[in-house]
Amino acid sequence: MTSPRKKARIHWGEEGSSGKQKGVSALQKQREQLPIAKGKEALIREISDNNVIILLGETGSGKTTQVPQYILESGMADTGIIAVTQPRRVAATSLAARVAAEQGVAVGGLVGYSVRFDEACSANTRIKYVSDGMLVRELLSDPLLSRYSVIVVDEAHERTLRTDFLIANLKTIQEKRNGANDVKGKRAASNLNPLKIVIMSATLDAEKFSRFYNHARVLYVKGRQHSVQIYHTAVSQTDYVDAALRTFFQIHTDKPPGDVLIFLPGQEDIESLDKSIKLYARRLPEERMSVVVCPMYASLPPTQQARIFSPTPPNTRKCILSTNIAETSITIPGIRYVIDTGKCKEKRYLSKDTGGGFDTLLTRDITKSSAMQRAGRAGREGPGFCFRLYTEDAFTSMALSAEPEIRRCSLTQSLLQLKCLGQDLEAVEFMDRPNVEAIYSALKTLWLLSALDNAKNLTPLGRQMASFPVEPYLARIILASREHGCASEVIDIVSLISSSSNPFVDISDQRDAIADARRKFRHPSGDHMTMLNALRSYQDVATTENKSGRKEWCRQHFVNERTFVEALKIRDQLRLTCGRLGMDWRTTRADNDEAILRCFVAGLVQQSAFLQPDGSYKQTIGQAAVKIHPGSILCEKKVPAIIYDELVYTSQIYARGVSSVPKSFFTAVTPSSKQS
Ligand code: CDP
Ligand code: MG
Repeated sequence: MTSPRKKARIHWGEEGSSGKQKGVSALQKQREQLPIAKGKEALIREISDNNVIILLGETGSGKTTQVPQYILESGMADTGIIAVTQPRRVAATSLAARVAAEQGVAVGGLVGYSVRFDEACSANTRIKYVSDGMLVRELLSDPLLSRYSVIVVDEAHERTLRTDFLIANLKTIQEKRNGANDVKGKRAASNLNPLKIVIMSATLDAEKFSRFYNHARVLYVKGRQHSVQIYHTAVSQTDYVDAALRTFFQIHTDKPPGDVLIFLPGQEDIESLDKSIKLYARRLPEERMSVVVCPMYASLPPTQQARIFSPTPPNTRKCILSTNIAETSITIPGIRYVIDTGKCKEKRYLSKDTGGGFDTLLTRDITKSSAMQRAGRAGREGPGFCFRLYTEDAFTSMALSAEPEIRRCSLTQSLLQLKCLGQDLEAVEFMDRPNVEAIYSALKTLWLLSALDNAKNLTPLGRQMASFPVEPYLARIILASREHGCASEVIDIVSLISSSSNPFVDISDQRDAIADARRKFRHPSGDHMTMLNALRSYQDVATTENKSGRKEWCRQHFVNERTFVEALKIRDQLRLTCGRLGMDWRTTRADNDEAILRCFVAGLVQQSAFLQPDGSYKQTIGQAAVKIHPGSILCEKKVPAIIYDELVYTSQIYARGVSSVPKSFFTAVTPSSKQS
């Protein structure tokens, strides 16, 4: 490999202009200096006088951290908790930590958080940062969200499916709690405590939110944005990771101190760039500033996330590699340079016509609105620079803003949740209506899982499925284990599938060595039983070995300890849910893989494929030809029928998490076979 200096330099187009200074000191001083602090009194008055407020403001102006504290201090939340929703769990946990520090308390006391599989709250909690999905889940047990007095819907511009779901439901909840005619919200119509709603957004799309809430009042926080000089590449770049690497070292060798934030689409690119930057940085001349690299993505463990907020050591340049999470959800101090690859990952439902019928993450071009947010991250504390790894023409032809998730993602889980609330997807007033095809597809999935009957009514099984904090198909698998007496094994496997990373490390050029190392977990039926064996072996090792012994064992067997630790936490939650449903999670049939796989077939009816005479696999429901992923232990195997956890869409459609099952298992579970 060549040294970064010898690599071809990227040529940049024209540039922008100048800016002013800033000052930072202790936490309280910092709070007072935030742009939002100037409008504190007015803001409290407006929230007190109005039921619904739409609050817009530049990222970093203090909306997310300060507004809940202002509401708390004003006494408006004396009748209930203040919830602040976040589309991303990392944001919720890191914000709770920050606000707890500002209040001088430990997280979990006055200030807490609640995200899927993790919670730090107590009876004293008054400000609670929650993932939008958690609050949707709370609706199922408390349809009026009566524990809350103020609900702050943050990052509303992201338009995630769950945030849209909340926005729609909050409107009717507020009418019920406050009484439809009580515009000012000062008097409760019944003995219910009134609800206040604050919608916060980082982009200027207030009109739509305001119209939805009967022309609610819109407030603007003027940010303190310094100028950012923007450069575009002169020609388009084919390899954005390599272009980012070269740009980083150009900045590092040519530009004055200041941290660098690089936007990449996902974890794989982040990990690969992390490695290359470290490799090149080691070869830098002694006298040059050193480099610390900090990755940031949704599934990063909290201890590692904390590093991005810690001050950069002297004579060092921090380089943060982040997904679009750093666009608006979290503010990282010290950034002076932004490198924008122009790419992001977007969840999209691939319709059956295109051979899909499932949600998948696709890497795609960002929108103009994202590009502007990304550039803005360089101008928080002083004038900054943004290097866009795409041409100015490419910027000009970007879409203005992203399509809301409700228009492009699977609606299965939301539909089930609405059914539990006694609502129908077709009848709910959303800001944007979902596609008819997506609704139909969700109905069909729920019917295949026996969550709905032929008349589209919720079944008792469907209601139980909604109690689990996992996708309906995974809940179906767990519930099927009641019939087969193997809850313990099934829950272990589902916990692994629900973890944010794969238990098995997959390095494409070491697949033979890996297969060898893992031989002892290998189960002939496929990946599900193999995962179970791996988890059980890990648990044996965990009881006998210390930390470094465990680590070494995981390294030798090419498994991810982090996944196991996470899965064991998830398992606790799933067992708790079983307990609440009166289901015994202790039932076990350790050596009966047939019983275990039958449970998986019940949930994976739609995620299955049959072998064709030509040796390919074709989806049983849907049209796509699928291949078994090279990382699967069944890769290259020809078996009559497979079930899989997910499809990944690259050059081909690959099935991941694959098991071989007898075709006869399917006839026992599909509702169609029961009825026709
Ligand atoms: O929500 P908004 O983007 O308007 O701002 P915020 O998240 O409330 O952040 C306000 C300020 O708090 C940021 O500029 C950061 O300096 C600081 N902050 C921090 O240092 N660490 C965090 N985890 C969150 C915020
Ligand atoms: Mg914010």
